[in-house]
Amino acid sequence: MQIWPHKHIHSLANFSIQDYKSVFELANRFDALKNAGTKKIPALQGTLVTSLFFEASTRTKNSFELAAKRLSADVQTFAPSSSSLTKGETIIDTAITYSAMGADTLVIRHSSSYITFEIAKKLDAINSNTSVLNAGDGLHSHPSQGLLDIYTLIKFFSKKSLSPEILNSKKILIIGDVNHSRVARSNLWALSAFGADIILCGPKTLIPDEFINFLKTPAPNQEKDPVISRGSIKISRSLEESIKIADAIIVLRLQKERMMENLLSSIDSYSLDYGLTPEKLSLSNKEIPILHPGPINRDIEISSKVVDEYPNCLINKQVANGIPIRMALLYLLQKHKNKSKVT
Ligand code: CP
Repeated sequence: MQIWPHKHIHSLANFSIQDYKSVFELANRFDALKNAGTKKIPALQGTLVTSLFFEASTRTKNSFELAAKRLSADVQTFAPSSSSLTKGETIIDTAITYSAMGADTLVIRHSSSYITFEIAKKLDAINSNTSVLNAGDGLHSHPSQGLLDIYTLIKFFSKKSLSPEILNSKKILIIGDVNHSRVARSNLWALSAFGADIILCGPKTLIPDEFINFLKTPAPNQEKDPVISRGSIKISRSLEESIKIADAIIVLRLQKERMMENLLSSIDSYSLDYGLTPEKLSLSNKEIPILHPGPINRDIEISSKVVDEYPNCLINKQVANGIPIRMALLYLLQKHKNKSKVT
C-alpha cells in the first residue's frame, strides 16, 4: 500500500482511485479482524483523537470516537455548550488549544462550509503536527459518510472479494435535497470516481439544473482532478421513471426547514412525489439496495415499511460500516504523520 498522501481530509474531490482503495482495503481488514473476534487493536496506542463537534450528531461523532477507541487511541470530546466558546473564544483558537494539548487528529463538524480548510491552514502556519478530519462542514462535504456509503454499496454488489470497480456503469439514484446536502456532494465525488452514473431526482428547488456541472468544480487549492475519467450526472424530476432504471437508491433527509424557505409547497406534496414507498419501489424489477445517511424522517422521504421491512434496506449496515471506514481514516492520517507505508 502507498504512503497516505493527505495530512488533512477535507473532501473527496481530491481523492485518487488509490486513496479510495487504501481506505476500503484497510476498512475491510479491520472488519475481518472484528468478525474474527478482535474488536480492539493497539494500532494508535499513545495517540490522541479529539472530536470537535460544533453541530449535533449521533452517528458520525459516536462512530469516530468508537473507531478511535478500537484503535486504542486516547479520545477527547469537546462539548461546545460547556466550553470557552461561551466566553467568546473563536473556533480557530479552540482548535489551536486542542492541538497544543497534543491532539494528533481533530475530527471536526461545523455548520460553516470550508471551515476545516481555514482551521488546517492556521494549524499548518504555526507548524502544528495535528491533522484535521472533516466530519461534515456546512453544505460542502462529509467525506467519511461518502466513503462508508460507497463501501456499503461495493460490499453489497461484490460477490467475493471487495471490488470497487463493480460500481462502473451502475445507475445510482439519489433522491431529495441535493442542494443542501454535504452527503450528496461527497457521494457524487465518490460514486463518479468509480464510473457510476448518477441520477439526481427531486424538485427543481432542491436540485437546480446547474448540478449537472457539479463535478467540474474542484476543491479550493486543487489544481486538477486526480480521477482521469468519472461517471455521469443526470437530473430527473420523475421518481417513478428513475426507479425503473436504478441499480441502487440513496435517499436524502428532507430538511423540513426548507419548507419555511419556500422551497417546497408542503411536506405532504413532497412526500407524495418523492417519498420512497413500497408501491414506488415495486416499479423496479430488481431487488435494489436502499441507503439513507440518517437521521431519517420516517414517512416523509422514506416510508417506515421500506425502512423496517424491505430486505435490502442497508441503513443499519451503513452505520456498522462507518466504524471500520473511520478506523481506516484515523489510521491513515497517523501513518502520514509517521511517514510510514501502510502494511
Ligand atoms: N449521517 C450523519 O452525519 O448523521 P449524524 O448527523 O447523526 O452524524
